[in-house]
Amino acid sequence: MSSSAASPVLVILGGAGDLALRMLLPSLLNLEADRLLPEGVRIIAVGRAAGDADSYRRDVQMHLDTRNGYAPGDWERLAARLDYCPADVTTPEGARRLTEKVGEHGLLVVYFAVSPSIFAPATEMLTKAGLTGERTRLVLEKPIGHDLESSQAINAALAQAVPEERVFRIDHYLGKETVQNLIALRFANTLFEPLWTNLTIDHVQITVAETQGVGERWPYYDEYGALRDMLQNHMLQLLCLVAMEPPSDLNPDAVRNEKVKVLRSLRPITRAGVAANTVRGQYAAGSVEGQSAKGYAEEVGRASDTETFVAVAAHIDNWRWAGTPFFLRTGKRMPERRTEIVIQFKPVPHSIFGGAAEQDMVANRLIIELQPNEDISLTLMNKRPGLTQDAMRLQPLPLSLSLARALGEEGGRRRIAYERLLLDVFRGDSTLFVRRDEVEEAWRWVDAVEAAWADAGLAPKPYPAGSWGPAGAFALIERTGRAWNG
Ligand code: BG6
Repeated sequence: MSSSAASPVLVILGGAGDLALRMLLPSLLNLEADRLLPEGVRIIAVGRAAGDADSYRRDVQMHLDTRNGYAPGDWERLAARLDYCPADVTTPEGARRLTEKVGEHGLLVVYFAVSPSIFAPATEMLTKAGLTGERTRLVLEKPIGHDLESSQAINAALAQAVPEERVFRIDHYLGKETVQNLIALRFANTLFEPLWTNLTIDHVQITVAETQGVGERWPYYDEYGALRDMLQNHMLQLLCLVAMEPPSDLNPDAVRNEKVKVLRSLRPITRAGVAANTVRGQYAAGSVEGQSAKGYAEEVGRASDTETFVAVAAHIDNWRWAGTPFFLRTGKRMPERRTEIVIQFKPVPHSIFGGAAEQDMVANRLIIELQPNEDISLTLMNKRPGLTQDAMRLQPLPLSLSLARALGEEGGRRRIAYERLLLDVFRGDSTLFVRRDEVEEAWRWVDAVEAAWADAGLAPKPYPAGSWGPAGAFALIERTGRAWNG
């Protein structure tokens, strides 16, 4: 592909890494297939290993072969855009090499699909090499740092290079179709919003359960654990979208202003409350989906006090949510893969039904399922059909908005979350990206939990792989008179 002064360039640092090969390139191929990539865009993968455009194309194709079905014409068009630059961009020589490779360019998107420890030094080098001019957008994968202090250092380095509106911090959960559907459900219907308060909602549950273990990723994971890897970002983002006030429009700052207010209203978890409001777990050997699974410590090769499961009872101290807890839990090696948000409404204030029907009553529940299916269902009470001897009997009936069906009718397919996000970066729309103050507020809250754990000496409790975490996770919710869904 020939370069022209105006042609956009996408640089992927860590272009031969796991995230790039597993998520970014398949997403780019899907966008290519739908002719959604910007006209003439060149894609330069940067990696430390030796290689050239041909070897890189072969690598990518191998990955796509095994993981992704695609039409040959689509691949050829994408392959023609791909190039490879062997370079360590934290060195002047590496940055110079990349600058040469980029050459004349229009929009320049630099995607950091690398460890957060590289974010600041690479940004500094790219700036020195003249690659962070007015047409540059920086895209960063989570985690932004390891705690508040390190995230502030990264954010400060980014701010030296480009203004905030050109920084795109990815939280791929925001690119998921159902997450955006949550915004539509709340703000495109009059039905729910008047009920979306502590007056009618008893509590909210957010579960992100994964069957996979940590496996080869342990060197990264062991430093982070479930709280920093999942709760600090994906789960707090979901909580924000459920809890935020209606923004005035979908302008990036309008939405992010509302989310940051929620983060600021989260009640800090202190040493005094940490044992009652959090649970840490670590998987031991067990079996998941009929297969035996090693324990975490065995995978790491030594004892570790990193949690692979965390459950938290979070409280949002504002008018809308006072008294309505948000229960969050996430873990590796759970019995099933399930990501869902459960909005549990309160029971009816007074039941007119006597006898058996009284026992049939179940409070309304709205379930927003993100994975494995994308669905929204609302459980309503109905009369059980047919004749009964005594008074009427009731039954709960889910009213389901099957998003799979909606997709089928549209002739669409399920998208990789990164497709939406990459497209938004090219368009310059940062609504679905995380602003600096959001990341830092989330770290502030998470750091307090970490500090309270350390203070209280709370080590993770073992749970067998293939179970729903330590017994304490059940006690956390059950002692409030509630229970986890499913
Ligand atoms: C990543 C975490 O951000 O999200 C992983 O680092 C986790 O540990 C993954 O497995 C889950 O993403 P998804 O889209 O499969 O739910």
